[in-house]
Amino acid sequence: MVQDIITTFQKLYNQEPIVIRSAGRVNLIGEHTDYNEGFVLPAAIDKELYFAIAPNGTTSMRAYSFDLHEKSTFNLEQVAPTQTAWANYLLGVVAQLQKAGHTVPGFDLVFGGNIPMGAGLSSSAAVECGLAYALNHLFGFGLGKMDLVKMAQKAEHEYAGVMCGIMDQFASMFGKRNHVIRLDCRSLEYEYFPFDMRDYRLVLCDTQVKHSLASSEYNTRRQECEAGVTILQKHYPQVNSLRDVTLEMLESQKDEFDAVVYRRCTYVVQENLRVEQACLDLERGDLEAFGQKMFASHQGLQHDYEVSCPELDFLAQVARGCEGVLGARMMGGGFGGCTINLVRLSGLEKFTETVEKAYLQQFNRSLPIYIARIVDGTGLVQTAKPEATGREAEWTR
Ligand code: GLA
Repeated sequence: MVQDIITTFQKLYNQEPIVIRSAGRVNLIGEHTDYNEGFVLPAAIDKELYFAIAPNGTTSMRAYSFDLHEKSTFNLEQVAPTQTAWANYLLGVVAQLQKAGHTVPGFDLVFGGNIPMGAGLSSSAAVECGLAYALNHLFGFGLGKMDLVKMAQKAEHEYAGVMCGIMDQFASMFGKRNHVIRLDCRSLEYEYFPFDMRDYRLVLCDTQVKHSLASSEYNTRRQECEAGVTILQKHYPQVNSLRDVTLEMLESQKDEFDAVVYRRCTYVVQENLRVEQACLDLERGDLEAFGQKMFASHQGLQHDYEVSCPELDFLAQVARGCEGVLGARMMGGGFGGCTINLVRLSGLEKFTETVEKAYLQQFNRSLPIYIARIVDGTGLVQTAKPEATGREAEWTR
């Protein structure tokens, strides 16, 4: 795949690119906690995008989407959101760099890969992080990875209209092979935890449901959480976000809450506790206990936070009845996309057979299944081939 992207670049633009790889992500536990300043536990996975890129001496971005076979040129002196949905993620990043005072010279780009779109694996974050990293490298802006993550997140807010938290962009950029990352979304401190893949697999079951309500409902959930914080602040001035809230605090002010907002807030507070406990399980190597928390997370997302859908609920339910499945739940924003399943290697085949069959019977639809490997985050894969010497490209990974 990467070679095809490079070859396409050479044919289209008649020059040599550098190549950046950027990854999609999974999240083991800690859903809808990031924008509440809580904890998440994501990892970058081997669903990836490659960016072949080089300066072009103009003031335009010439971009080609390898997966969609579409080409577009944009004047970088007047960057604004466009009708071309895929280009918005790129332009959003350029706009952020410009806002931070950097001049972004013209460049040529071919990008593409194997992250299924709309499957909840954060293909958009991978696009944003890949380009942010590439431009920073290419033009020497000197920005750190965390700065790039924040810019990528802002690009999503301003050019895709989703008021996302920081998890997806963070995981895509900071992923580390065979490790999950616990991120404190308030302080942005993070810790890598080894994730033993010898006897277990992370299995993603793709409902192929792309719910059109996903972004509007997502923004509504944010507002509901904020409404809860506003109520609690009257009684507990130290509360800045649901991160500062305990179940007891919620309970004591229950009368003031609208029932829906109460359920939303309860879920977030419980999920935060689950992430912290799940990390202790990981440290002890107790994946059984870890898996139980994944099931509990799904229950909360289904009934209290209400961001699931029948297909996700069905898959989580079937998984629960399969021997060898330690935990299962919906993943990401919700309303479609994938479930994530923690499966014992010895039960893997039986599990995939069972869910595929059950899904087909129930929804008359096939079920794409991905076995995720945990890989490194965004990085340089290939520096430009020195033309004069004809030396082989230097592969850094
Ligand atoms: C989406 C957002 C993330 C996060 C998850 C839910 O993936 O982009 O910031 O809020 O939903 O955990």
